[in-house]
Amino acid sequence: MSETNDTDVSEFVFLGLSTSRPIQNFILSLSTVFYVAIVLGNTLVVLTVAFDPHLHFPMYFLLGNLSFIDLCLSTLTVPKMISDLYSGHNTISFHGCVFQMFVLHVLGGSEMVVLIAMAWDRYVAICKPLHYLTIMNPRTCLLLLSGAWVIGFLHSVVQLAFVIHLRFCGPNQIDSFYCDLPRFIKLSCKDSYRMEFMVAANSGIISIGTFFLLIVSYIFILFTVWKHSSGDLSKALSTLSAHISVVVLFFGPCIFVYMWPFPTVPVDKFLAILDFMITPILNPAIYTLRNKDMKVAMRKLSDQLLRFRKMS
Ligand SMILES: *[C@@H]1O[C@H](CO)[C@@H](O)[C@H](O)[C@H]1NC(C)=O
Repeated sequence: MSETNDTDVSEFVFLGLSTSRPIQNFILSLSTVFYVAIVLGNTLVVLTVAFDPHLHFPMYFLLGNLSFIDLCLSTLTVPKMISDLYSGHNTISFHGCVFQMFVLHVLGGSEMVVLIAMAWDRYVAICKPLHYLTIMNPRTCLLLLSGAWVIGFLHSVVQLAFVIHLRFCGPNQIDSFYCDLPRFIKLSCKDSYRMEFMVAANSGIISIGTFFLLIVSYIFILFTVWKHSSGDLSKALSTLSAHISVVVLFFGPCIFVYMWPFPTVPVDKFLAILDFMITPILNPAIYTLRNKDMKVAMRKLSDQLLRFRKMS
């Protein structure tokens, strides 16, 4: 640990999830398996949506974009963690750390908007089925998705603009396996209380706000289905409860990371695993594999790929 006060920190050291070698090996193998599954599952979803013209509908574009974001989110943190565990060389450059935080917030912000768009898509499909095609047309969808990326980008720029001028004079250890604002700010030379508050207010309130918005809209949809129950209640219930569990799993950790007031108890780094390794697997499984059209399209795509391999 460098305690010198006049040199700037040029790199940070990740303390990782655990210091015990057997546990590290366990995490190493588990995260390798999970990451391979995440890459395969989400790539399959993205390719299926892109190449099957039957799936060129808003709902599937939303799913494809969600899978793409999940894939990026995972790729931003998990391979670095795997290589750190494998090589024992667990440092990240100052710029690498800032880059990781920036992309993390672009992706996280966009994913939140995409999840809202998906809830809205379900709301229109279930509560206004006759108007579905006019309300959720390709233009609306494109607007929602470009909105998602723009909002994610702006959110990230605003957050990073505040912290980019912080100076760091050591220590340079981050008690986690990736860079994020709360721990980064804690390491700066000056008292950073106001900055921490700003991050909690921005990221934390966005997480909590989106979380409640989604939960309330799902409850509203459920209530509508229940009132106009036409025998399809159990199907709607199972779809919506799957959506709700993804929402809880995704937002729970976010809320914890940004609003948890006791930084000495590092639960947040374990919860972050949910966002980088569990929801990216669950999303394709829950939203996609339960969908009949999607399954048919995937089978067609894999048949085509096999035939192509036989021919060449
Ligand atoms: C994301 O959405 C856009 C706009 O609707 C669509 O054109 C694109 O194919 C989608 N991307 C993926 C990976 O599904």
